[in-house]
Amino acid sequence: MDWGMANRMAQLIQADGRCLFMPIDHGYFQGPTRKLEEPGKTLEPLLPYADAVFVTRGVLRSSVNPGNAKPIILRVSGGTSMVGADLAAEGLTTSMEEAVRLNASAVGISVFVGTDYERESLLNLSKLVDEGERYGIPVMAVTAVGRELGKRDARYLGLCCRIAAELGARVVKTYWCEDFDTVVHGCPVPVVMAGGPQVDSELEVLKFVYDGMQKGAIGVNLGRNVWQNDHPVAMIRALRYIVHENGSAEEAHELFQSVKAAKP
Ligand code: 5RP
Repeated sequence: MDWGMANRMAQLIQADGRCLFMPIDHGYFQGPTRKLEEPGKTLEPLLPYADAVFVTRGVLRSSVNPGNAKPIILRVSGGTSMVGADLAAEGLTTSMEEAVRLNASAVGISVFVGTDYERESLLNLSKLVDEGERYGIPVMAVTAVGRELGKRDARYLGLCCRIAAELGARVVKTYWCEDFDTVVHGCPVPVVMAGGPQVDSELEVLKFVYDGMQKGAIGVNLGRNVWQNDHPVAMIRALRYIVHENGSAEEAHELFQSVKAAKP
């Protein structure tokens, strides 16, 4: 691996081989999502606990202080919305030149396996990998689930992750599922977990994150279950405890409760 690529990967994946990414990119198709109406304000208290931030160029320029940032994973796919005809019809929205200008440590793109736009999104990934490899910028593939696909089982997610890795993604982001070890073992590059829509109980989130880490994930890219929580700092600290300090779900939950009590 060339020095630039290795250095950027090391900015994302910490010395312990693990990572906690903070995604605030949701507005690119969801608009002003609840509790992300002002992304800069949402991010500010979470930033000290994040290893990297997943964000579009628009929010990066408008809402993230370049003098006090973390490594950036630039979201470079989009062009569709949650009210449009098909969310899966994404294209590339941002050039590699722009990623270099923004000093991105990586770029991120969604792929939509099993949808009408499977081929297009996978060829976009391949093109992005070609460009990323030229400049030493890793590509994170996001295994998005198209609107019509409720599937989040190990067979489907394992298929998505493996294809993304085969096409050259350096990191793959997917959802946790039962038998998550089969997803990880079939994927030759590191896997991080997203969270999906907010769930009712913090312990539920901490349990699936713990399980995923035990089964080989290297970390998380959890958004809504952190910043839509009423106690986002307590939540990110609890996740960090599992990811970087090998805490159990129950121990992390105790930490959540104590941080919450200290800062109601
Ligand atoms: C949105 C994304 C998000 O980065 C990803 O889904 C993680 O966020 P969440 O935990 O809220 O699902 O790719 O398109």
